[in-house]
Amino acid sequence: MENLESYLIKNICCIGAGYVGGPTMAVIADKCPTIEVNVVDIDHKRIKSWNEEDLSRLPVFEPGLDNLIKKNRNKNLFFTTKIEDSIKKADMVFISVNTPTKKNGVGAGLASDLCWVESCARQVAEFAQSHTIVVEKSTLPVRTAEAIESILNANLNADKEQDKSFSVLSNPEFLAEGSAINDLINPDRVLIGGRDIKAMNALKSIYLSWVDQNKILYSSLWSSELSKLVSNAFLAQRISSINSISALCEKTDADIREVSMAIGRDKRIGANFLNVSPGFGGSCFKKDILNLVYLANYYGLPEVSQYWEQVVKINDWQKKRISNLIIKKLFGTISGKKIAVLGFAFKANTNDTRESAAISICQDFLIEGAKVAIHDPKVDPKQISLHLNQSQKDLEELNSMQGGWQFFENIYESISDSDAILILTEWDQYKDIDWFKVSNIMRSPSWVFDTRSIVNETSIKKTNLNYWNIGSIQ
Ligand code: NAD
Ligand code: UGA
Repeated sequence: MENLESYLIKNICCIGAGYVGGPTMAVIADKCPTIEVNVVDIDHKRIKSWNEEDLSRLPVFEPGLDNLIKKNRNKNLFFTTKIEDSIKKADMVFISVNTPTKKNGVGAGLASDLCWVESCARQVAEFAQSHTIVVEKSTLPVRTAEAIESILNANLNADKEQDKSFSVLSNPEFLAEGSAINDLINPDRVLIGGRDIKAMNALKSIYLSWVDQNKILYSSLWSSELSKLVSNAFLAQRISSINSISALCEKTDADIREVSMAIGRDKRIGANFLNVSPGFGGSCFKKDILNLVYLANYYGLPEVSQYWEQVVKINDWQKKRISNLIIKKLFGTISGKKIAVLGFAFKANTNDTRESAAISICQDFLIEGAKVAIHDPKVDPKQISLHLNQSQKDLEELNSMQGGWQFFENIYESISDSDAILILTEWDQYKDIDWFKVSNIMRSPSWVFDTRSIVNETSIKKTNLNYWNIGSIQ
């Protein structure tokens, strides 16, 4: 018979007020008005932004998020830097902190850096009171729960006087940026990994406020942790597959859109995630696959590791082949030429730039001495400078700078006098560009490079612009 025992959850603390913590907790607070939700972060500036009156200044741009914040903030949803107090009050603590690729030491460049997760576990161990359910929301290497449990329990042993105990669950997040609120409200599935059925039921009861119970899956901790990595690896693999075929289409007069459509109609393959692109970006695909590569090697499976590594290699190759191709089309040199880069976010409907294809492509242009004119409707230029200024500084030191980059708020100003336009993000604004107007304000011969295949071909072909559409005959 099904075990329905559960803990009662009245207070939640989420550690990490980022792209996952903020939206996820906003949805939980909205759907569970009787639960108090405190989202905490060590980054005081970020917490201040979450508390901004002006909702256009929230740290995360996500369609629908501003309304949820407006409706629930300071009712049962709080953004605060009071980490200790929030942990003390909580029956359930979500760990939702960053897990980037390690930069130094063992596993550098591949393994996930778990120092932030570990520091959360130590804080929870210290400040929690009575029974606390600790939920891994961050994406973590398989068997991380073991380390978290050791930290939590080590503290218990040292402090036998206190009446506290812990259950650890894995509840990976599958939202995609740009559609996070919809993904959270209508998930394909919610995965709960654990051993303590009472704690698993408690987390399930939260989701049952809005998710159909058939979509809530139970598994072991290890299957849950690994499923998240594998899910991202499979999605990224599809993109690398289609991007690799885009290069073959360009050589053979086939068209990648027709190929995507034809293969996607096979129900066994499915139509999603077959859009050609300049390469996948975002904070997770690359880091999670590299983590998988590291784990496979760690467990003595080099063939498995090499197989997945290729997904990342093809992605890097796709970005490089685009910058090389543009240089070649512009007579082998872009030194002193103006290139308008439309879109810096790693996909549309987000202000996130992490691992965006725009970063390495713009860096390539800067190295070649181009004048890079960047437009993006949501990305803060300060964010762009964090990615590009280092390369600009290196170049100044080399004394070979003829170009540099500049941010434009107006699309047509970024395009004016340019030799080429490169569309990198599929923002709706770029679908409505007036190509006739553009053809009059560019320098001739002028090129439009479309890496998202969003330009209306019929209208651009009526102009004198040279048009390159990824994955079709050139
Ligand atoms: P993020 O960098 O936007 O946010 C993480 C936050 O955690 C930061 O604000 C940081 O200051 C804070 N933090 C770090 N250590 C802390 C500590 N000890 N105490 C309090 N705050 C601390 O990261 P994110 O994009 O929200 O990703 C978080 C996790 O979720 C990662 O493991 C990621 O792989 C995973 N994930 C991300 C997405 C996504 O779309 N971004 C989707 C699914 C899963
Ligand atoms: C991805 C996954 O889709 C989420 O399920 C997962 O939770 C998340 O990673 C994570 O773990 O962080 P996200 O990176 O936000 O979400 O966005 P995606 O829609 O997956 O796009 C990732 C990149 O792939 C973008 O650069 C996008 O332009 C690119 N992409 C996507 C393509 O090139 N082609 C496609 O068909 C789809």
